[in-house]
Amino acid sequence: KVKRDKMTILVLGLNNSGKSTIINHFKKSNEQSAIMVPTVGFLIEQFYSKYFVNNKYNTNNSYFSDMGVCIKAIDMSGATRYRNLWEHQFKNCQGIIYVIDSSDRMRFVVVKDELDLVLQHPDLSNRILPILFYGNKSDLEDSLSNVKIAAALGLENIKEKPWHICSSNAVSGEGLDEGIQWLVQQIR
Ligand code: GTP
Repeated sequence: KVKRDKMTILVLGLNNSGKSTIINHFKKSNEQSAIMVPTVGFLIEQFYSKYFVNNKYNTNNSYFSDMGVCIKAIDMSGATRYRNLWEHQFKNCQGIIYVIDSSDRMRFVVVKDELDLVLQHPDLSNRILPILFYGNKSDLEDSLSNVKIAAALGLENIKEKPWHICSSNAVSGEGLDEGIQWLVQQIR
């Protein structure tokens, strides 16, 4: 029972928030790149997640068993400069992962500004589309809790879209599966 043979999830976030590390976790093990290099530009990469391909992985988990999910990552740091290059991706995506460095308090204002731009985008604003927030780097001592991140970003104002915030440590993988399970469940 394939509902969609391909769905697209966009991974957004500032530079250094952990997008590449998170994406690496969702790759098939033979495709994982061991070395992360800072990404310049707008589109990091695009691939099919290990969970969603050919029933080969995670077969116990029905959410994941029969779909091809295409994950695309976009670095929001180049937002203004590159916007016209990636904003057309919004039209065709079914879910968004928004990665936040929960220890980078200095840039919470920027994170909020970028998030607001995404939410207000004409291709997204009227759609019921789930947003997963990873409060990433939760292992770092000065990281903010989910409650504080949600308050800082004003997440309670997101009325029309289902959203969920999940603490993660992308290096160890902690929290990542829980988050994406929520997201995929919302999309189905
Ligand atoms: P750009 O490619 O610059 O857009 O960055 P990115 O968002 O893809 O971040 P990336 O995955 O390259 O991670 C940036 C740095 O943070 C790397 O040194 C990672 O090892 C580190 N990092 C990522 N996630 C975590 C985490 O959960 N905890 C800790 N302690 N470090 C992390």
